[in-house]
Amino acid sequence: MRRKLVAGNWKMYGTLAGNADLLDAVRSGMEQARNVDCAVCVPFPYLPQAQQKLSGSGVKWGAQNVHQMDKGAYTGEVSAAMLRDFGCSYVIVGHSERRAYFGESSHLVAEKFLAAQRAGLIPILCVGETLEQRENGATENVVAGQLDALIDLGGVQALRDAVVAYEPVWAIGTGKTATSAQAQAVHTFIRQRIASHDGQTAAELCILYGGSVKANNAPELFAMPDIDGGLIGGASLVADDFLAICRAGART
Ligand code: 13P
Repeated sequence: MRRKLVAGNWKMYGTLAGNADLLDAVRSGMEQARNVDCAVCVPFPYLPQAQQKLSGSGVKWGAQNVHQMDKGAYTGEVSAAMLRDFGCSYVIVGHSERRAYFGESSHLVAEKFLAAQRAGLIPILCVGETLEQRENGATENVVAGQLDALIDLGGVQALRDAVVAYEPVWAIGTGKTATSAQAQAVHTFIRQRIASHDGQTAAELCILYGGSVKANNAPELFAMPDIDGGLIGGASLVADDFLAICRAGART
């Protein structure tokens, strides 16, 4: 059985003072939770705070982006080794907001994914279609292309120490969640596509669902056989909501 992972994605929210309360509450709320992995992906400047507040607890932390090169003259960018310096376990790559607003191609996302692994981080690769793509019946093609870019560059073995997050763009921050059946269908597709390269990697891969996951819909989503947890945006900013989602992960 794959273990569930619930990861928060704070996006560009937070203040030093507000985060302190949130991190303390998540840390203490997770003390009793044994059967679920939990992480928060925070903006770069808050990584030292996450490290200080979460070190020694079961809650891991990570970042939301990383540069694809190991080092160099790339003013304003942050390398994977720097994230490791601040104790990160995870980094999100290819979030749809990065693809849409910052022009990140699937090839670039694959480079970032591999840079993260070179530094010992676990990349969380986001994939997912827009509403228009879904309505045109292109969901599987889009998701396949996003996965294939990584497999072409890094081989299927790159997915051994990694997480994939299916995040339909139309469900992100909109309050519209994919139904558990819609999400399960795409998760199955992702697992089968990877299984066509390597069955064991596919069977062991953690595939998260993201897009308006809340405490009230998490139990049904997490009960699906190929949904291994969630990548949580808005609800990860409220400790009680995030902890309730983590508890749903521990139960399923
Ligand atoms: P919401 O949970 O706010 O829809 O955000 C999902 C997301 O983008 C997580 O990466």
